[in-house]
Amino acid sequence: MRSLEGKVALVTGAGGMRGIGRAVALKLASLGADIVLSDVKRTAEDLPPKEVKKQWRSIDSVGEEVEALGRRCLKVWCDLTVSAQIQAMVNEAVAHFGHLDILVNNARAIIGRDRVPVTEMPEDVWQHFLAVNTTAVMLGIKHAGKVMIKQGTGGRIINIASDASKRGRPKTAAYVTSKFAVLGLTQCSALDLAPYGITVNSVCPGAIDSDRMNYLEQAQAQAKGIPLEQYREDVVRETARRIPVGRVGQGEDVANVVAFLASDEASFITGQAYNVNGGALFH
Ligand SMILES: NC(=O)c1ccc[n+]([C@@H]2O[C@H](COP(=O)([O-])OP(=O)(O)OC[C@H]3O[C@@H](n4cnc5c(N)ncnc54)[C@H](O)[C@@H]3O)[C@@H](O)[C@H]2O)c1
Repeated sequence: MRSLEGKVALVTGAGGMRGIGRAVALKLASLGADIVLSDVKRTAEDLPPKEVKKQWRSIDSVGEEVEALGRRCLKVWCDLTVSAQIQAMVNEAVAHFGHLDILVNNARAIIGRDRVPVTEMPEDVWQHFLAVNTTAVMLGIKHAGKVMIKQGTGGRIINIASDASKRGRPKTAAYVTSKFAVLGLTQCSALDLAPYGITVNSVCPGAIDSDRMNYLEQAQAQAKGIPLEQYREDVVRETARRIPVGRVGQGEDVANVVAFLASDEASFITGQAYNVNGGALFH
C-alpha cells in the first residue's frame, strides 16, 4: 500500500507548468493521495512564456497528470486575496471527497513589483503580498484546521515558506516580511492544533528553477533585448554557481520533503521550518 492511500490533499498555487505546487501535487498523488488542485485564473501576460507557447492550462493540465497516476482530482479556481473564496475552496474539497487530510499552502504573489527599496514601496503591493503570502495561509489553516479537528483523525499542514523567511535582502521588504510571518504562523498553529494530532510545518526552499513569473525579470530581459526565457536561463546558471551543491533546486526537491512531512512517519514533527537549499543557508 502506498503511504498516502486514502488521504485527500489540497495544494494551492498548483497550476504552474514547472511550479513547486505541481511537483508537490504529483508527488502526493504518486504516493496514493487524491488531490484538490487550486490556483487563480491568470491572463497570458501574467504567465511564463513557455506556458503560453505550450498552451498549458494551469490546474486543468495538472489535473490530467494526476488522473494519469490513477488518482482522483478536483480542480478549484480560487483567488487567495478573497477570503470567501478560500472558505469556499475548503468547503468544496470536503463536499467532493468527504474529508480533507493534508493542506499544502504553496501559492505566492507574483514577484517583481515588490522589488523596490522600502521607501518606494507602493502600499497596494505591500498589502497584496501580505494577503496572498500570509493572510491566505492563515485562512487556509483556519478553515482546513476546523475540518480536520471535526474529522478527529489528525492532519498535516505544510506551508511553503522560503529562505526569505530567515534572511532579509535589499529590495524585498514585502516578500521577506510576508514569509517571515509564515514561520511565526507555523509555530503558533502547530501549538494550537497539536492536541488534535494535526501537525503544521514549513518548508523553506532556496533557489528553485520553477520558471516562475517575475515582472522585474521581464522588464530586465526587455531592457537587454533578449527573450525572458534566455534571461531566466542566465539567472539560473549564475545562481547555481553560488550554491554549495552546484545546482539550483527543482520542484521535486521540495516535493520530497513535503511528502515526508505529510506522512504518518512525521507525526512527532511540528512547528518546524525545513531548509531545502543545497547548503546555501544553515539556520
Ligand atoms: N522558486 C523559488 O526559487 C522559491 C524560493 C523560495 C520559496 N519559494 C516558494 O515556493 C512556493 C512556490 O514557488 P514557485 O516558484 O512554484 O511559485 P510561482 O510564482 O511559480 O507560483 C505561484 C503560484 O501561486 C499562484 N498565485 C499567485 N497569485 C495568486 C492568488 N491571488 N490566488 C491564488 N493563487 C495565486 C500562481 O498562479 C502560481 O501558480 C511559493 O510559496 C514561493 O514563495 C519558491
